[in-house]
Amino acid sequence: MASLAANHPQAIRPQDVQSERGNPHWVRLKDERELDSIPGEDGWPVLGTTFKLLADPIGYGNRMRAKYGDVYRTRSFGRRQVTLIGPEANELVLFDREKIFSSEQGWGPVLNMLFPRGLMLMDFTAHRADRRALSIAFKPEPMRHYCAALNADIARGVEAWGEGERKFYPAIKALTLETAATSFLGLPLGPEADTLNKAFVDMVQASVAPVRRPLPFTAMGKGYAGRKLMVEYFTRLVRERRANPGQDMFSQFAMARRDDDPAADLLPEDVVVDHMIFLMMAAHDTITSSFTTLIWQLAKNPEWQDKLRAEARAAAGGDGVALAYDALGKMELADMAMKEALRIMPPVPSTPRRAMRDFTFGGYRFPAGTNVGVSAAAVHADPAHWPEPERFDPLRFTPEAVAARHKYAWIPYGGGAHMCLGLHFATMQTKLLVHHILTRYRITAAPGYAPAWQAWPIPKPRDGLQVQFSRLT
Ligand code: HEM
Repeated sequence: MASLAANHPQAIRPQDVQSERGNPHWVRLKDERELDSIPGEDGWPVLGTTFKLLADPIGYGNRMRAKYGDVYRTRSFGRRQVTLIGPEANELVLFDREKIFSSEQGWGPVLNMLFPRGLMLMDFTAHRADRRALSIAFKPEPMRHYCAALNADIARGVEAWGEGERKFYPAIKALTLETAATSFLGLPLGPEADTLNKAFVDMVQASVAPVRRPLPFTAMGKGYAGRKLMVEYFTRLVRERRANPGQDMFSQFAMARRDDDPAADLLPEDVVVDHMIFLMMAAHDTITSSFTTLIWQLAKNPEWQDKLRAEARAAAGGDGVALAYDALGKMELADMAMKEALRIMPPVPSTPRRAMRDFTFGGYRFPAGTNVGVSAAAVHADPAHWPEPERFDPLRFTPEAVAARHKYAWIPYGGGAHMCLGLHFATMQTKLLVHHILTRYRITAAPGYAPAWQAWPIPKPRDGLQVQFSRLT
């Protein structure tokens, strides 16, 4: 068997990846003054612009763009970084034709401590090999099985909600976690799934905690304990699934091979475990966020709610029945409505990378080691690409409208080598939720209701999104 180190040139033990110091292959800016020529600001001494960014990430980005243009410099979390705005910038950085931009070194400072060695924490050749191996989990046959499991879980969960006032965000978050236990892990709902879910929630919480050391009683301390529990549990589960594979995503990962040769070795156990933990993180809050945006928009736009309900009834052949995998393609309006929700409130508002080599953009030169960000939130709200950007209009996503627009004006799933691996899964789950919810309930919100949203790290309504569910008569 090829050694782990050979397949994973950047595979380092989790305890080694907590800072840049443990990563000799990371490229650092030689001297931050090399970015002096980029317009922007350094903010306060020591604190930089971090607090302005955290207080109102979208508003701060808008103000910086209005003042300095589509290329600007800030200083957050102790380092200078540049933001590049516009479809051309998105294409340069995400499509990365010339293999300049590292995802590992962009995301690493945020995710390395709790989600090491996930796909977004890998680059180039090693990333491509593991991504290809894991892609088997998203082929039509396994997707068909997830569809059946999701249909049953969503129907049960949504039916139990019943009529009445509801904070939608916590309700959909709980339901998505429950469905993950069965379709991702193949576990029955119950105390075991609850323990894992709790560990997982602690890890996600810790990944954005300001205190970055796992001290007792801190979010990072709890996150570390959660990771330890999940690693131990998943390591046992890999062995079980290899002996007796099921139809769940974990079984697919456990049986994945680094190339398409059936005689090739399975991925090492610890690699499967890290990929699965990362995938759960990538999948969970993103779907929760985008579906909450969709429900908010459907509550505000009852005509679209009616259209989606009629489409769901026709596609499934009735109210509350399962929506067959083969019928998903008939939910075209739901597809467009989801895309519009992702435009209005992208769950990953900005994407970090680090330049491995010098590059130029917009008339500026950027040295190797520059931290670079592109912003889905800024481009999705730009009237140059989206007239009346605040208006919910799924018809922006008809095939003709899409063909007439720059491909990188809409980037909720990223693009290029790291484009979201689970986007078809996310689309399927959204259509199933639309079907099971809208063929049971009518959703309304108080007139003029406009919830405030927390923009970072993943958008969510501060009040949980207060809506009314009424049974269809
Ligand atoms: C609406 C829901 C979702 C959104 C908006 C979303 C968004 C994204 C984005 C923007 C990236 C790329 C980040 C980058 O380039 O740095 C990404 C990567 C990824 N996503 Fe998603 N995601 C969603 C749902 C899911 C689901 C359901 C899964 C799994 C079932 C998933 C698995 C992944 C994985 C594994 C990657 C890493 C791919 C790679 O680096 O090669 N995502 N996602």
